[in-house]
Amino acid sequence: MIFKILKYPNPILRKKSEEVKEITEETKNLAFDMVETMKKNNGIGLAAPQVSESKRMFVIQTTEGAKIFINPQILKRTKETSIMEEGCLCFPGLFLKIKRARGVEIETLNEKGEKISFKTEGLPARVLQHEIDHLDGILFIDRIGFWQKLKLWKKLKEYVSNR
Ligand code: CO
Repeated sequence: MIFKILKYPNPILRKKSEEVKEITEETKNLAFDMVETMKKNNGIGLAAPQVSESKRMFVIQTTEGAKIFINPQILKRTKETSIMEEGCLCFPGLFLKIKRARGVEIETLNEKGEKISFKTEGLPARVLQHEIDHLDGILFIDRIGFWQKLKLWKKLKEYVSNR
């Protein structure tokens, strides 16, 4: 099933998501449908709240295929940061330069419910930070600087009134 992706400023996008208590058949189906939805929309990441499910899980597209993260946590971030342009499926056509940690260490459950942890940097680290933010109701527009926000304010107002 392909989900409808919520668009900003839907209030569900601002809610803090709930931990996944148990990985059931339903969780697996949700993850499968999220992967389908991400692919259909040419995304490289999709978090459950973006499809109206306030659960701490997301999917990402990697060079080795789609991966599922359940109850993920950032254990460590590098002090070193990098600035990269990001998009978000909740904001079609909006691309913003965002400063984030260059690398992260992540702990998560995989689709089998096994706890795994790993370090990554560059694009995967960026996507993971963006998706984990979604689970806490944080959007990429919250990660820009004051002056960038001031410039964006007008654009966002137009953006909201156009839907
Ligand atoms: Co996003």
